[in-house]
Amino acid sequence: MGKTYFTIFGVVAIIAAFSSCFHSGSKEYLSLKNRLDSLESNAYTPGFGEFMNTIEIHHAKLWFAGTDKNWPLAQYELDEMKETFDDLQKYVKGRPEVKEIPMIDPALKDLGQAIESKDVNRFKPAYITLTTTCNSCHLATEHGFNVITIPSAPPVTDQQFKRAK
Ligand code: HEC
Repeated sequence: MGKTYFTIFGVVAIIAAFSSCFHSGSKEYLSLKNRLDSLESNAYTPGFGEFMNTIEIHHAKLWFAGTDKNWPLAQYELDEMKETFDDLQKYVKGRPEVKEIPMIDPALKDLGQAIESKDVNRFKPAYITLTTTCNSCHLATEHGFNVITIPSAPPVTDQQFKRAK
């Protein structure tokens, strides 16, 4: 019994000692806070255009996956593209264009349904609508000189777009 009390007393004493070190006015607290603030302000986050370059690659791969009826790859590329739009919204601060991103949602949703139906005749028009919407946003955000088209060649030569048997 006595031992238990002693242990509890010891633990309380240790917690008390530590919390006095880290109360919000202490030197240790302020030094940790400064280090955290500096880590935060120096943290690298990709810019708007870098996220767009990633989106462009997924957009191009998606065309070859879909027209080759490689539906698992098409689904994957679509998911990656959606994830990149989400990350763009999350990480790019201070760019008013971010609020235009939801305009792409209906086109992404339609394309998802076309992929689910495994119908290339639904996939192609849905892909064209997506591409038109990319360009609508570029026009709306004064980047109309960035014109996105249906790709005429795969963006890379080291990946197979046809479905493996
Ligand atoms: C929120 C509206 C918006 C949507 C939707 C959008 N873009 Fe963009 N895009 C921009 C803006 C703004 C820029 C310029 C970014 C910068 O560099 O500051 C840009 C730039 C680009 C660039 C140029 C990057 C470079 O460095 O060459 C490409 C490529 C691009 N977008 C592809 C796409 C594709 C593909 C889609 C559709 C799947 C798309 N974008 C949808 C707003 C949008």
